[in-house]
Amino acid sequence: MSIKAAVDGRIDVTLCEVAETDIARILEGYALLQQALGCDAVEDLDSFLGTVSSSTDAAVAPKIVRATRDDEIVGVIIGQYLRNLNMGFIAYSGVRVAWRRRGIYAAMRREIIDLFNWEAAREVSQKHSRSVDYVLSELDEDGWLYQTYLDVWNGIALPCDYEQPGAQGLQAKPLRLVLQPVGQRKPPTHSQIAAIVRELYERVYRIEDVDTNPSYQRIVASLSNFSIRATDRQFLSNTNSANKRRKI
Ligand SMILES: CC(C)(COP(=O)(O)OP(=O)(O)OC[C@H]1O[C@@H](n2cnc3c(N)ncnc32)[C@H](O)[C@@H]1OP(=O)(O)O)[C@@H](O)C(=O)NCCC(=O)NCCS
Repeated sequence: MSIKAAVDGRIDVTLCEVAETDIARILEGYALLQQALGCDAVEDLDSFLGTVSSSTDAAVAPKIVRATRDDEIVGVIIGQYLRNLNMGFIAYSGVRVAWRRRGIYAAMRREIIDLFNWEAAREVSQKHSRSVDYVLSELDEDGWLYQTYLDVWNGIALPCDYEQPGAQGLQAKPLRLVLQPVGQRKPPTHSQIAAIVRELYERVYRIEDVDTNPSYQRIVASLSNFSIRATDRQFLSNTNSANKRRKI
């Protein structure tokens, strides 16, 4: 378990990885997410307990980070390291209203990416590097968080009409699938994007027959409407501005 104080000059909270056996803290996190996101946006409790358990699927390593102040939970982020892709997926996050806009989400996000990278380092092989290639998030195109990912965190919206599938008590809905480069400097090709979506559907949403899933079929069909060149340009421009920022 990793414990550390988040220090960016504005916050004084403790970030802590939650063990998957710590059911009391997991339930606290679940309640916070339901409050922050609304019950319709969070999967059923049974399904959620499967999502945070490493015994659900050997190809997935779940990660939970919570932020506390005086042992009271103020924020939580849930993610999954996807071994077959060497990518992290951010599934849920929430910060209590009174604690927002103090950098807590940004700090939890950094922490969970460190945990994804730690898993990636354990997997090192000819295929994988020491960090994840990308971190994936599903975001609402109309929300400020989507814009923050693109403008501040070098995110790239993948060129497809992505849909979160109807599964685990959630309704199917159109979202953008955003990829944040970590170890990988090249954008994915159309066939890699289809493979990413397949893995999310199979491993994260636990859909058994992905090929016959209508949302999956629509996403794959939509790929041909997008030019991969536009993504290449976006990727290059984001990578260049990230490099410039690093030099400053
Ligand atoms: C999304 C959420 C987790 C962000 O938590 P937070 O701790 O307030 O976020 P941070 O303070 O780390 O903000 C990081 C950056 O995001 C942007 N941001 C945060 N809140 C914003 C807002 N209300 N409007 C516009 N930009 C905002 C800013 O760029 C901010 O950096 P800055 O403060 O240095 O400018 C929180 O608002 C929340 O719980 N919302 C409801 C649940 C949700 O939407 N979860 C995400 C989808 S799973």
